[in-house]
Amino acid sequence: MFRLLFVLCGALTPVLCCDWLERYHKLSNDSLVHIQLMGGGLTEQQSPVPFPDKLYRQIYKAKVESQLVFIRDNLELIGCLYRHDNLSSASWDPIRIKHFLDIIYRQAEEVTACVRGQTGRETARETDGETDGLSHCMSTNRTTNPRLRDFYRRLSNSTVTPTGGSVASWELIRKQTVRLLQRLDLLAASIRRRSPPNPQRH
Ligand SMILES: *[C@@H]1O[C@H](CO)[C@@H](O)[C@H](O)[C@H]1NC(C)=O
Ligand SMILES: *[C@@H]1O[C@H](CO)[C@@H](O)[C@H](O)[C@H]1NC(C)=O
Ligand SMILES: *[C@@H]1O[C@H](CO)[C@@H](O)[C@H](O)[C@H]1NC(C)=O
Ligand SMILES: *[C@@H]1O[C@H](CO)[C@@H](O)[C@H](O)[C@H]1NC(C)=O
Repeated sequence: MFRLLFVLCGALTPVLCCDWLERYHKLSNDSLVHIQLMGGGLTEQQSPVPFPDKLYRQIYKAKVESQLVFIRDNLELIGCLYRHDNLSSASWDPIRIKHFLDIIYRQAEEVTACVRGQTGRETARETDGETDGLSHCMSTNRTTNPRLRDFYRRLSNSTVTPTGGSVASWELIRKQTVRLLQRLDLLAASIRRRSPPNPQRH
């Protein structure tokens, strides 16, 4: 596994990939600070869609490349959740939501650069007749895992989509996003533990 990641970091886009892994925790922490402070306390309400625990457990058995792709897919889909005309009705701090989303997009881009050579860049899919920005974003992104995409679709489909973006539905999205980011941070930490120290740093 050491050698695998070394090859991954050494042969592809070395600086980006290894630096990304080192920076991930810091940026992830920043994004969690912004999302938690952009509104009040997290809602006590239960999410109508259960957390995808099984997918998050299974990914630990996968190869590092697949784990990185999983992180990328999640970050892109999290970004999609917030592509909604009525995001402002959540009445969150607009500066913090902007910083939060900037970090999510940046993280998604950086991990994409890191895995591009491994998986190739899938071409964007045609949308299946859906018109709103959120479904478009979800169906054009290159998520390789249909069950993961399905989770995000069901989440938006049972919260912001039917309510047109009510405050309560946005709070459910925010709460699930916090959980997702916390779990992704643990996954990234497990990849980092297996990776050799970056020689360029010494
Ligand atoms: C982010 O990092 C700070 C400083 O290390 C820490 O106090 C805080 O609990 C972290 N926040 C989250 C949400 O992880
Ligand atoms: C994929 O998701 C990202 C972030 O959520 C978004 O910026 C991008 O436009 C999406 N890609 C497509 C092809 O819709
Ligand atoms: C979204 O919800 C509607 C109405 O509840 C349902 O008919 C539709 O199949 C759902 N779509 C997805 C992708 O879950
Ligand atoms: C945004 O809210 C308005 C007013 O409540 C509603 O008519 C509209 O359909 C909502 N937009 C979306 C994309 O849900």
